Amino acid sequence: MAAGFFTVGATPVPVPVPVPETADTPATPLAGVIPAPASARPGGSPYRITHDTRIQVNGTPEVRRIGQYLAEILRPSTGYPLPVTDRQGAGIRLRLAPGDTTLGQEGYRLDSGRSGVILTARAPAGLFHGVQTLRQLLPAAVEKDSAQPGPWLVAGGTIEDVPRYGWRGAMLDVSRHFFTVDQVKRYVDQLALYKFNKLHLHLSDDQGWRIAVDSWPRLTTYGGSTQVGGGPGGFYTKADYKEIVRYAASRHLEVVPEIDLPGHTNAALASYAELNCDGVAPPLYTGTEVGFSSLCVDKEVTYDFVDDVVRELAALTPGRYLHIGGDEAHSTSHEDYVTFMDRVQPIVERYGKTVIGWHQLTGATPARGALAQYWGLDSTSAEEKARVAAAARNGTGVVLSPADRIYLDMKYDKDTPLGLDWAGYVDVRRSYDWDPGDYLEGVPAAAVRGVEAPLWTETIVTSADVEYMAFPRLPGVAELGWSPVSAHGWEGYRVRLAAQGARWEALGIGYFRSPQVPWGAR
Ligand code: ACM
Repeated sequence: MAAGFFTVGATPVPVPVPVPETADTPATPLAGVIPAPASARPGGSPYRITHDTRIQVNGTPEVRRIGQYLAEILRPSTGYPLPVTDRQGAGIRLRLAPGDTTLGQEGYRLDSGRSGVILTARAPAGLFHGVQTLRQLLPAAVEKDSAQPGPWLVAGGTIEDVPRYGWRGAMLDVSRHFFTVDQVKRYVDQLALYKFNKLHLHLSDDQGWRIAVDSWPRLTTYGGSTQVGGGPGGFYTKADYKEIVRYAASRHLEVVPEIDLPGHTNAALASYAELNCDGVAPPLYTGTEVGFSSLCVDKEVTYDFVDDVVRELAALTPGRYLHIGGDEAHSTSHEDYVTFMDRVQPIVERYGKTVIGWHQLTGATPARGALAQYWGLDSTSAEEKARVAAAARNGTGVVLSPADRIYLDMKYDKDTPLGLDWAGYVDVRRSYDWDPGDYLEGVPAAAVRGVEAPLWTETIVTSADVEYMAFPRLPGVAELGWSPVSAHGWEGYRVRLAAQGARWEALGIGYFRSPQVPWGAR
């Protein structure tokens, strides 16, 4: 098999661009997937999915659900029945091996040979990630929703795969433009394909408040009633939000809700006059300036408000983290900012959640265990970077979202019709080709918890817009978060990335055909 040429090791080897499927097309090499697996040992015969293939699951309801998920992906395109069963037999087997500590909570092993494919993991998340690998080892046409000719070959050999980082996130700004539950689910499915495990939702900003808070109902009925450009906006009811959380969990993503405080709060200030220092509610805002709004740090009602919002949001949040923003508080004095964060962080802890904030939080005193999300640029001042590094040495974990690397709303180049350019143009290579482990000087490697790709939506209105900005950069962020440094290499990556194009086309994902990537013909 062609798969025999590929290893993941010190020297990443480019993999061939898949050619159109024919009966003798070689299977995708084990190391051809994104994110690159930690180790791949090709060898032996491929497995061929046929009409007789079963998906064997070992008992627990979670494993059965993952088996069903796999079957739902494979059935339309293969046209095969693919029963999900706990009966023994040849085919695709999903098994939990809780004692296998080498695989961690998210790792998996894939063994493929003539008689079948076995996915082994210590925990369901690992099986789910293994399913994404299996999916990518199959031809792109497997993603189509009508019967395709096949053949459906999985290269022979073994993959052993564990993530480099526990935080592999994507953020969607649903405030500047509102995105419906179905639109969010669509993005969740795209994130799952690349083994992301955090969905950060930016739920409030100057332009709109998007999550129902029963104790402050005007936040949504008024504060959620518009968006950038003056459209109708929208908001999630608690039932809507629970449905997003449930769906994300079914794809092994944890939702991290963000209420941006104390700045980026015009929608709240417009909804409730008493939250303003002068007692006068400003009008709703539909522009794209930043830094002009602030909660009133001296008023007690501010902390009653924050307590209510955090309490209700924490109750909707099974995940550990609650994001309190903290960026661009240009209308709050430094002293007030510190006072505010000193009062608000304990509220988050009181409701059982761990604080994450944008890295300006390190200009105050981050709570014990808090995470700082770094969104600076190469040109960010040395003092600002040093503050983040000092906090990291003091125990604050860092999630890396450098704006001039992985802000998905930055234009690719001068001709990109959507997006912004305040952090410069971010082409595909620039977004992929850096190392989170040594990115910020003075931050201990162990303080880096992972990476997250934000997508701000000042100019992003539809799912097609989201996808055009996310693809093809998003998979590169996934690889930075998952794959070992030894697997990193632009020349090999760009070829693996090119092979994803046909998969996106099969999934109906429109993407930017970057000239840096050797896409096949369409
Ligand atoms: C940010 O981009 N203001 C976090």
